[in-house]
Amino acid sequence: MRKVITYGTYDLLHYGHVRLLQRARALGDYLIVGVTTEDFDKSRGKINVQQSLIERMEAVRATGLADEIIVEEYEGQKIDDIRRYGVDVFAIGSDWKGKFDYLKEYCEVVYLDRTEGVSSTELRSESTLRLGLLGQSSNVDKVRREAEFVNGLSVEAVASVDDDAAYDELLTQVDAVYIYSHPARHYQNIKKALLSGKHVLVETPVTLKVAELHELMALADEKGLILMEALKTAFSTAYNRLINLLKSGKIGQIVSVDSACTSMEDVDGVPREALRERWNSIYDWGPTGLLPIFQLLGPQADSKRIMSMIEQDTQYDYFSKIDFVFPKAVASTRVGKGVKTEGELIISGTKGYAYVPAPWWKTDTFEIRYEDPRLNQRYFYMLEGEGIRYELVAFLHAVSSGRTYERIDSAVTEAIVRVMEDYAAGKDLTILEP
Ligand code: CTP
Repeated sequence: MRKVITYGTYDLLHYGHVRLLQRARALGDYLIVGVTTEDFDKSRGKINVQQSLIERMEAVRATGLADEIIVEEYEGQKIDDIRRYGVDVFAIGSDWKGKFDYLKEYCEVVYLDRTEGVSSTELRSESTLRLGLLGQSSNVDKVRREAEFVNGLSVEAVASVDDDAAYDELLTQVDAVYIYSHPARHYQNIKKALLSGKHVLVETPVTLKVAELHELMALADEKGLILMEALKTAFSTAYNRLINLLKSGKIGQIVSVDSACTSMEDVDGVPREALRERWNSIYDWGPTGLLPIFQLLGPQADSKRIMSMIEQDTQYDYFSKIDFVFPKAVASTRVGKGVKTEGELIISGTKGYAYVPAPWWKTDTFEIRYEDPRLNQRYFYMLEGEGIRYELVAFLHAVSSGRTYERIDSAVTEAIVRVMEDYAAGKDLTILEP
């Protein structure tokens, strides 16, 4: 029996795929099809595959052309598969010509002509979500650049935060808007977008008041629109794996979460008025610092204390430390713009601890450590575009499926906003003089 193997993503299965499978099958008597996992695709830069692994495998199965379907999940797996299944022929489309010549050591390698005029990329781009960006160019440029990696999404217009007319105009040209304005403006900016029937992706914190958040969430629901929080760390693969590992008991019961996020901000020459308009430490870094705390320990702390170094006339906090007491744990975050410390995340448990090195909010690695160092484990996951790329893909999926991708629970979003509100109201706040 002559065994043939081929691999692919097979997203939105099309005629080109079917023709390839037919010709691959004709090369032997038995066809094995390897379908790639989301993670493997991500690691090779294919980030916005629309269908799940199961759906894609099911689609391949439905062609009736595969005798066996396997999952491809790691680099170098092809060699293992060829040996394990006793494969005689490896077949793949001509777009890969030369790339798999290294497999000739193990079996015959055949490149089959690619079918002209059809691809998953094209199918994904057929319905394009037109995105508008609201913000200063220095802030929205990253998103504009990252959007280029996401097919099915195109940036149509950009408006500056202080130009109301430009924003009105922008809203007539797009299906969705990404907002990077000062958090104090979010409520107005979001409301306007939702009332014009546009989906919203907004930098965190979504609002500065819980009541405003509730109102906007209800409005989005009523209009069938997506209102999603842009907190890129939540979309990084390493960070997510860490949270899931810890929630499944990897370090025992979690007893303490400690995070720190700081950046040096040149505030010396900045006019006082302008400083008031700047994102201060707690609005800029606070949500990121709070994310692992609320995700791991729940949104409901028994008590908290905010200690901030605030300049009286500008209300700018250079540094804030927020301590929490939960029923069975404590937590603390330190955030600063103009104060520097090690940007690490440490989560302590009854069996061990997790250590995420600086800058933990855009990490591709972390370590789980135990008393016995031989048990320590290090994890690595590819991170592209600081997570912004994945965040845009999640937004796109949310819009097309009509539900927010459950990366940040709405209870966590609300808990973050509540801290912002309490800070502004001076609740649980101790002020230190700069
Ligand atoms: N293929 C083909 N003809 C096409 C498209 C794909 O022969 N028009 C082949 C590829 O060469 C590969 C297999 O089908 O051997 C699976 O390809 P896959 O990467 O899943 O599909 P694409 O449509 O190329 O996907 P994308 O646009 O995401 O790259």
